[in-house]
Amino acid sequence: MKFGILTSGGDCAGLNAVIRSVGLCLKNNVKGAEIVGIPDGYGGLIRGESFPLRQEDFEDILALGGTILRTSRQPFKKMTVSEEGGSRLSKMVANYKKMGLDCLFTLGGAGTHKTAALLSMEGCNVIGVPKTIDNDIYGTDVTFGFQTAVEVATEAFDRIRTTARSHGRVMLVEIMGNKAGWLTLHTGIAAGADMVLIPEIPFSLDAVCDFVNARAEQGENCTMIAVAEGALLDYEAKYKKDQRAFIRTELGETTVTRHLAEVIAERTGAEARVSVLGYLQRGGTPCAYDRLLCSRLGGYAARLAAEGRFGVTVAAVGNQITFNALTDVAGRYKFVSPNAEIVRFARSIGISFGDRA
Ligand code: F6P
Repeated sequence: MKFGILTSGGDCAGLNAVIRSVGLCLKNNVKGAEIVGIPDGYGGLIRGESFPLRQEDFEDILALGGTILRTSRQPFKKMTVSEEGGSRLSKMVANYKKMGLDCLFTLGGAGTHKTAALLSMEGCNVIGVPKTIDNDIYGTDVTFGFQTAVEVATEAFDRIRTTARSHGRVMLVEIMGNKAGWLTLHTGIAAGADMVLIPEIPFSLDAVCDFVNARAEQGENCTMIAVAEGALLDYEAKYKKDQRAFIRTELGETTVTRHLAEVIAERTGAEARVSVLGYLQRGGTPCAYDRLLCSRLGGYAARLAAEGRFGVTVAAVGNQITFNALTDVAGRYKFVSPNAEIVRFARSIGISFGDRA
């Protein structure tokens, strides 16, 4: 049997660990398995490029950051638009057949899964593996790369706190996550943030400033705020995405963090500073938890392929590795519910979400 592997969308820690696990499981359990890597995510499949992956390619990559296959973002919206030589989707289906693939493993996030579902509906044998530091893929408790990002952000937060304490400052730490607040929420709790601002719970400038003032009155000399990239002001929440983008442009930033720091400084008199963690959270070696998760997800995906179960994506539910139909997962997201136990718990220990709850 011939297997293809691609990594698509933003990189994160653990992609190579999954590639290794899929590869080793296939080599060990499927007689004569031929494995090829497809470069640059769906970009390579659109162009019809592939290269052989041998046993030695899987050595020493368990702890390696990034992806040995490289990656690219191929917007889902453009997949079915006709262009020279047919749509990107039709080119991929044709190249899947031309390469003689029996199965394609797609390692990626929500967008990758939508395209994987399309390929599957077009008759390609596809198995997804859920990746993203955002942890927003429906049907799995956790995505690979998420825990490493939490570890990195937590360590950064701890370090920034020492400066906040020393200087008596309000520190706003901007954490990735445009639509979903999981990374900010987990980091905020793990690092002992005073306030957590996430897209799912729009915040009020008044509530944030009142909270900072109240802490100062209680004699707290610093305030640590974890701000998700996609955190929303309460008045922005009622607008559609493109209207919000317009408001943000007026503010001169794509995220709200710097504007918030300015307002805090102006209204409370505190020194407010911003640290944007950015790609630190996606780069580098996976933590032990992710290495184990990636190995189990990859191994399970390879087993499904050997059994001929396609059109699925693997998932971690409870302590088990399992799978969901790609069509059930595609286009659905997993967001933080404002009433979730983890949010109620955070509030119970005094973490503010910048609202009036
Ligand atoms: O999906 C992962 C993620 O890191 C998001 O948290 C972030 O909004 C986005 O990717 C950034 O993407 P890019 O690599 O295109 O800047």
